[in-house]
Amino acid sequence: MTADRLSVTASAPGKIILFGEHAVVYARPAIAVPVWQVRAQVTIDPLPGNVEIDAADVARWYDLRDAPPDDPIATMVTRTCARLGVEPQGFAIHIRSTIPVARGLGSGAAVSVAVGRALAKFYATENTEREKSRSNSVSPVPSVAALSVEEISALAYEVEKLHHGTPSGIDNTVIAFEQPVYFVRDQPIESFRVARPFLIAIADTGVAAPTKIAVGDVRRAWQADRARYEALFDQIGAIARDARAAIERGDVGALGPLMNANQKLAREIGVSSPEIETLVDAALRAGARGAKLSGAGRGGNVIVLAEGENREKVERALMDAGAARVIVTKVE
Ligand code: MEV
Repeated sequence: MTADRLSVTASAPGKIILFGEHAVVYARPAIAVPVWQVRAQVTIDPLPGNVEIDAADVARWYDLRDAPPDDPIATMVTRTCARLGVEPQGFAIHIRSTIPVARGLGSGAAVSVAVGRALAKFYATENTEREKSRSNSVSPVPSVAALSVEEISALAYEVEKLHHGTPSGIDNTVIAFEQPVYFVRDQPIESFRVARPFLIAIADTGVAAPTKIAVGDVRRAWQADRARYEALFDQIGAIARDARAAIERGDVGALGPLMNANQKLAREIGVSSPEIETLVDAALRAGARGAKLSGAGRGGNVIVLAEGENREKVERALMDAGAARVIVTKVE
């Protein structure tokens, strides 16, 4: 029965990691915030038959039954339906996203979260419609519980494992909860107070760099020299802790040097790249107080503390230095 289901739409924002990427995989703290300017959007339309997945941004339209076992969207659909206690059938799922893929902005996690939210809504809609006709019903209607934020985050985390093997869980958490998070792997999510909002410019190197590769390379380097890497991760974790304290007391000025120190350590663990360094240099030369890669590195996006009267000059310098685009987001 698909007739009593309604079309639904859900979405999820992008994210940036302000401090602590990579070290967070090794249980050090990291800070991430949602980015509202980019979003993944999912629409589900009733469609008799099996499930069709329309991922136009990656030019794919396929049947759920034909998806390979590690297909992230198919996995999110199947697992979410299993969690909801329903058989996946009778709908087309359309995915549209303005979050560039493999640029450290959480595109994969945002699609997963939006899919989870849309499915929960889709089956909740069906339920509401069924409730209306309950009086005529001969058998009890199975209840389809809505999913909590924690459940959607946990489902998206399972899918993150397909994307890059050993994810910390920070991407699905910040995107599902849609608030700044101080994240420590396997610990309850901690939010914190942004005492004074601040602006971050996000500059795209134009280079797509899959998280899985950078995370895998760091793992191999850590296996080869654990003592050195553990010490580097400790330093990165200490920066994230100091940054949280600075944000909580409204000391935005302290964030610039902390970003620069984090970037130096990211370079040392081997996840910077010539394109990242070019944008970081350009921002600092133009007067920015802090700049670093964000996410897995090797490409993707650079984030810049965009405070003060130099802001426009910094944005221009980033574009002149080859940024594919610059967006400015407010952390609050
Ligand atoms: C990716 O956004 C952040 C990394 O630290 C990986 C992870 O935390 O899973 C590189």
